[in-house]
Amino acid sequence: MHSWRDYHERTKHTPDGLRQASPALDWANMPDLFREYEGVPVLDLPADPPEPGMGGVADGAERLSQLFFYSAANSAAKQTATGRRYALRVNPSSGNLHPTEFHFITGGLANWPDGVYHYRCSAHMAEQRATAIAQPGLQVVLTSVAWREAWKYGDRAYRYCLLDAGHAAEALRLAAQASGCPAEVNAGFNDVAVAEALHLPDDEWPLVQVNVNAPPGGIAWQAIEKPAGTPGQLSRNPLRSEGIEAIHRLTSALSPAPWRWPASPGPLSLGDAMSFGKAARSRRSALDFRQGDETLSPAQLGLLLAVANPGLITLYLYIHRVEGIAPGLYRYDPHAGELTPLRAGDQRVAIAGLSLRQDLAGNACLALSMVADLDTAARTYGDRGYRYAHFEAGAIGQRLYLAATALGLGATGIGGFFDDATHRYLGIAPQQGQVVYHFALGHPVPDHRLTP
Ligand SMILES: Cc1cc2nc3c(=O)[nH]c(=O)nc-3n(C[C@H](O)[C@H](O)[C@H](O)COP(=O)(O)O)c2cc1C
Repeated sequence: MHSWRDYHERTKHTPDGLRQASPALDWANMPDLFREYEGVPVLDLPADPPEPGMGGVADGAERLSQLFFYSAANSAAKQTATGRRYALRVNPSSGNLHPTEFHFITGGLANWPDGVYHYRCSAHMAEQRATAIAQPGLQVVLTSVAWREAWKYGDRAYRYCLLDAGHAAEALRLAAQASGCPAEVNAGFNDVAVAEALHLPDDEWPLVQVNVNAPPGGIAWQAIEKPAGTPGQLSRNPLRSEGIEAIHRLTSALSPAPWRWPASPGPLSLGDAMSFGKAARSRRSALDFRQGDETLSPAQLGLLLAVANPGLITLYLYIHRVEGIAPGLYRYDPHAGELTPLRAGDQRVAIAGLSLRQDLAGNACLALSMVADLDTAARTYGDRGYRYAHFEAGAIGQRLYLAATALGLGATGIGGFFDDATHRYLGIAPQQGQVVYHFALGHPVPDHRLTP
């Protein structure tokens, strides 16, 4: 594989490809979705931290607890027909496989030892992997265990890992900002140096850093001893994929130009209906959307588009039911704040078909294709630009999930789509942009399998 372009081409969905029988999932080898670093001290993060922005944070432990509780922790469970219960988290994840892990370095937090930690999501605790000398502030390093995702989705999984990391980093950044702590995301670091400094296992790859209450570029830190702890083996037979390793290597080259996380620096504006904390903890992916005559109002659409705030991404809207806007396909111009009509008429069958025949994209009030200008990204940022475009799409998705939740609506990220059929439908050549994510918004059907 010579470039991100080869990888992207090879991992496109086509109707023919999908018709060929894909191998059955090897359930006996399903990777554990919760990694623990064993043999190190585990520090408690207080239960029920206050909501971000509501004051009352006592010390460093509670600050950290609040940050992760409102961005990454378990937040609900589902029970299947066979009685199996499984966890859902604050951040969404394709296939609920959660490839993203969270490591963090703290300096100068009250009653909390400066050190290098891994977030133990299964128990909402912090594994102390080393003590450290660190500047005041917090650095969270998000890594991806790509094969957790590849176990189900094959080589296309690397795209989902990038989208996932975009969602998770944005979830963290927004939780920090909602609690009054300035936060910025950095994705342009030396992967190998970060992996070595954190003493990461071979299957965990650093993708993004979120710097909280920190100087630009993050805090300087040095572990006093090598970060310890035995990373839990996720299954008997961890999988390797040459294709995924190759695209990861290619995109790890440092960018010739700095890239900025595309979002306004202030807290997310969710309107008055719901607090950030409630929206973050109650966010869910809709399984499907109610059909009928329920609509989105122009004000709701306005708020959703305002939080989307695209940069490398162009949004194409399939409007099914928005008051005052005729059903059709539109392109959003964020500078003019305008929708340009591209096709008139009912788009429900078209977008469901393009989304691997997933009905929810047609039953929603509104569906989106997020199209990334991958060529410009690569010209400006080198191969690493391939990551940046996907991070941006994930971050947009995260803000849409939260805004939809606050508006009493439902949302679902859609990673499965027929790539080139979508380009043809939108009337764009791949050099003009390629679809990286689909999204659906509307009135969700109740999910009876959900338990708090
Ligand atoms: C990158 C990404 C791709 C996804 N793709 C799909 C999809 O194609 N179809 C779908 O129904 N849900 C999709 N989802 C939603 C996940 O299935 C969902 O996040 C997961 O099951 C966890 O549920 P939750 O979001 O309610 O926590 C996707 C989510 C993400 C983040």
